[in-house]
Amino acid sequence: MAKKLWGGRFQQPTDELVDQYGASIPFDYLMAEEDIQGSLAHVKMLSKTGILTEKDVAAITAGLKQILADLKQGKIEFSVENEDIHMNIESILTERIGPVAGKLHTARSRNDQVATDFHLYLKKRIPQVITEINNLQTELVKMAEKNIDVIMPGYTHLQHAQPIAYSHYLLAYFEMLQRDKERFEFNQKHTDISPLGAAALAGTTFPIDREFTAQELGFQDVYNNSLDAVSDRDFALEFLSNSSILMMHLSRFCEEISMWVSYEFNYLELSDAYTTGSSIMPQKKNPDMVELIRGKSGRIYGDLLGLLTTMKGLPLAYNKDLQEDKEGTFDAVKTIIPALKIFTGMLSTLKVNQEKMKHSTENDFSNATELADYLATKGMPFRQAHAVVGELVLKGIQTGKNLQDFSLAELQKSSELITDDVYHDLKSEVAVDRRNSYGGTGFKQVKQQIENAKQKIK
Ligand code: ARG
Repeated sequence: MAKKLWGGRFQQPTDELVDQYGASIPFDYLMAEEDIQGSLAHVKMLSKTGILTEKDVAAITAGLKQILADLKQGKIEFSVENEDIHMNIESILTERIGPVAGKLHTARSRNDQVATDFHLYLKKRIPQVITEINNLQTELVKMAEKNIDVIMPGYTHLQHAQPIAYSHYLLAYFEMLQRDKERFEFNQKHTDISPLGAAALAGTTFPIDREFTAQELGFQDVYNNSLDAVSDRDFALEFLSNSSILMMHLSRFCEEISMWVSYEFNYLELSDAYTTGSSIMPQKKNPDMVELIRGKSGRIYGDLLGLLTTMKGLPLAYNKDLQEDKEGTFDAVKTIIPALKIFTGMLSTLKVNQEKMKHSTENDFSNATELADYLATKGMPFRQAHAVVGELVLKGIQTGKNLQDFSLAELQKSSELITDDVYHDLKSEVAVDRRNSYGGTGFKQVKQQIENAKQKIK
């Protein structure tokens, strides 16, 4: 077996199980490109500062570039014996260019190297997440515009509460996603910092230029403290926390879609492209994607909780525990990006059953608040109005009538303040239209919010 890159002080080989258990190459190969980019910036700096000769740096640079090209063509194979992506790349480089490869690691440690790779990895993915959120928001705005006249029951406690515009409902999710987007934007600020040059934990005696490598790698900033640089994983925790909140939002949306495509609600119909059938029941059309995205929110919370727990007892600076930062984060990236894409596609092909939604607002008592407001506007104290309407509702339940079904004479028995114009107010579209307080469901408000939303997705 080949000697380990760090093997000098060891007399015995590591146990085979230790090699396997300790290796991160089975997952950190995903940072291969970032690792090579980091190394390229590092050697360039070593040349610029005169720490290495131009000749050595040219050899190392050419070797690294060749490995990068081969990597992109799928020609590179990694080995568990070399433990992680950093030592794998270095050992491939050594095979190719000889002992001069050993100079690459001057003024560097795997501790700042792995942190740099991980920062680069996430820094590249966060904008992708933001783009996908923005695409979903764009779809929501499109839907809101298209369905501007559609009315549905608004719920509290999952009971009919007051009628609302369906577009108002959609824009509620737009708002959640806007906060998600802003959270990821802020997350990028903490990710876009270079740990390179912190070395193992304390910095280095070599006259390195950390600003230079940061600039080479496109980082906005450098870590101020070398101990923090190699042990900080806040940026990944923020990513997982933001991902958890995002998935929670999608999951709530999913929950509603799954109810609303059911026979009982029948408010929505998902396209065949986003549903699946049953192996036994020929009639089934199951909202699998909706359920799976709801289900996957659980694993993202798990990814967050896993890393939080890993971090909580760690003394400064680097500890091998930190190797556990990656799988959950990679998992979150590969879970949330497709979730957002699928969601966008699902919404763009969703059929909205307008009649069913509207009908549901007319066969209930969700206009009871209208009648109470009507009486209050005519001078009756609101508490009294509430009681009067409550009794009318009870009468309605007992006689199988909705409020608008009572004759004027019947209504006037409850209050003489009621006149013929009450029937206008009891219509659900009027109820929606009149809720024109800022942020309310009134159509004028919603149209204004659609315009505001468009500004935010540009
Ligand atoms: N594979 C390691 C990780 O992911 C790289 C850093 C190793 N550093 C060390 N001192 N053992 O964290």
